[in-house]
Amino acid sequence: MRVIVTKNYEEMSKKVAQLIAAQLLLKPNSVLGLATGSTPIGAYKNLIDMHKALELDFSKAYSINLDEYVGLSEESDQSYRYFMNENLFNHININKDNTYVPNGLELDEKKACSNYDAILEKLGGIDIQLLGIGHNGHIGFNEPSDSFSVGTNCVALAQSTIDANARFFSSIDEVPRKAYTMGMAGIMQAKTVVIAASGQAKADIVKQAIYGKVSPEVPASILQLHANCIFVLDEAAASKL
Ligand code: F6R
Repeated sequence: MRVIVTKNYEEMSKKVAQLIAAQLLLKPNSVLGLATGSTPIGAYKNLIDMHKALELDFSKAYSINLDEYVGLSEESDQSYRYFMNENLFNHININKDNTYVPNGLELDEKKACSNYDAILEKLGGIDIQLLGIGHNGHIGFNEPSDSFSVGTNCVALAQSTIDANARFFSSIDEVPRKAYTMGMAGIMQAKTVVIAASGQAKADIVKQAIYGKVSPEVPASILQLHANCIFVLDEAAASKL
């Protein structure tokens, strides 16, 4: 594991974008594993800038996102598909047919999960996976539990996640209670994992993920076992290390 500490959110975002851009330059048809939430927005802005100013080329790239709320369509501005279109895909030259997000409108949970695992298999796995970390240590929507999930699964969101994500909705009642998430197999089989965290509120969980016991109670702790995992933190998120 490598830990890179940057001065602030802007520097963290630049570093994350550089790692993704380097992957794309080395292998233009890379499979990019992508995340939503507040953390990656700055990195996506940097990637858009690199695309515009330096012609960073996404035309041969594939992307697969970690998760999606159950019940939200891609037109819903709270859905993760909408987020990805708005924050990245609409501004770069990726072929949207090559971008994947779980289908939130597929209410047959088994089907939704096995379809997504089949997509991941067809893509041949992920070259570089970008992750954020929840305050409870979740990665994707793999919430603290007594065992690690393996494949794509449908999860009941933890109350702390519902509370944290309520900021994106007009009221907490609107936050979906369930989500589809890639499991640990997809994440752990990624050739490179980049996990980003910013701000004092993430400092405790970042410390637990890096130094704590590897346990499904802190899902991100599994990354201690990954052969090529890079934590990119700002000073505040790294302040308890
Ligand atoms: C999002 C995701 C989540 C977030 C995590 C942190 O696709 O999978 O695990 O990365 O909840 O969210 P932010 O970045 O909003 O603090």
